[in-house]
Amino acid sequence: MQRTELFLSENGLRVASLDPVALLQAFSSEMTRGLGGAADALPMIPAFIAIDRPVPPDTRVAVIDAGGTNLRVATVWFDAHGKPHIEDLSRHRMPGTQGEVSAEVFFETLADLVAPLAARTAAVGFCFSYPAEITPDCDARLLCWTKQIQVPSVVNTMVGSGLRKQLVRRGLDRPVTVLNDTVATLLAGKSAGVARRYDSYVGLILGTGTNTAYVEQNANITKCRLLDPRGAMTINVESGSFSKAPRSRFDQLLDASLADCGSYTFEKMIAGAYLGSLGGTILKEGARAGLFTPATTQAMLDMPLPSSKDLDLFCHNPWLPPGSFAALPLSEDDRRTALELCLPIYTRAALFAAVNIAAAVIRTGAGADPLHPVAVTIDGSTYYRTLAASFASRIQGHLRSLLESRGLHYELLSVDEAPVIGAAVAGLIG
Ligand code: BGC
Repeated sequence: MQRTELFLSENGLRVASLDPVALLQAFSSEMTRGLGGAADALPMIPAFIAIDRPVPPDTRVAVIDAGGTNLRVATVWFDAHGKPHIEDLSRHRMPGTQGEVSAEVFFETLADLVAPLAARTAAVGFCFSYPAEITPDCDARLLCWTKQIQVPSVVNTMVGSGLRKQLVRRGLDRPVTVLNDTVATLLAGKSAGVARRYDSYVGLILGTGTNTAYVEQNANITKCRLLDPRGAMTINVESGSFSKAPRSRFDQLLDASLADCGSYTFEKMIAGAYLGSLGGTILKEGARAGLFTPATTQAMLDMPLPSSKDLDLFCHNPWLPPGSFAALPLSEDDRRTALELCLPIYTRAALFAAVNIAAAVIRTGAGADPLHPVAVTIDGSTYYRTLAASFASRIQGHLRSLLESRGLHYELLSVDEAPVIGAAVAGLIG
């Protein structure tokens, strides 16, 4: 075994020994337990959004998209052919990403940005990309923050009402429909793919955070007895909180340094908010273990943790070291060692992401007929922009082996600005 492989293996990072089918089974069984209401299983949150209602044409709706790092506002309208038109789009920092803010500042910031647009529309669609329990009237209670957002006083409060109250103060009483970004992405895929006649739908986000939504039969959502057992409901899985995937010592070290230690450990192995810090943690531990030349060792230990973007660029081309990597006196062997240490986090993330998607496709119970595949709409920068380890194509390879062997047909779709479009659909039909 190579030095680096032995080092990774001794620290519990052995991608080759992960069993995709066993992981898939573990993920599926946590989904089932979550549908039954087990508190320590996946949250499996009903979205309470109708996915079959027609979207009214030529009606403008205001949209707010509170994602991982960005907050975007826009207005959207659909033409008679169902084509969305996004206008007035502007991008801002998500409050709480640069130090702690109060709930009041949080909702005021959101309301200040969306008010000029809401003034020209009758409703607001609010894409809120955090774990939140949805009420039947599509308000949402924040369960906890993820992605290291710091607005603690919003936890346990209703975010739709919080925004609405601030809009009312500005003389704008508008209904606010809240939905998760995975649900919005699923809806965007549905509205874009009408002509293809899909059997069912999955939405995946793989960006700063990660998560899936899919369509479940109400009869299987045993924790919600009030639902019509003949119907179906979109479920926000909150996949990032899956806790049964094996973790390495590096994952534990990184997690221990974060304010929300112990929560969303799956997301911390997959998503853009963490891959850079995780790679940096492995490199520093490798330096401590003497895997680099002496000059690089010291510089590596002094280097700040890289951003996910820089780690990816470095792993893609270690001859053009970006950001803090540029200051390292890397020898040829050092570059090879760094690659051998970091590429496994991408190959592992790709496998975990595929397991997550496959579990959702299987649970839809659809896709057996090639005429009507399952539409899997994917959004997020980590999926589309990660260059290391041929990331997206690696996910696709795992998906093929997990799903084609079961005779399931699916199509991966990309819809530009899916969360904004999905939030518009929700605002119009909600
Ligand atoms: C949140 C999910 C969200 C996902 C993708 C996670 O951190 O918990 O609600 O869908 O990120 O944005």
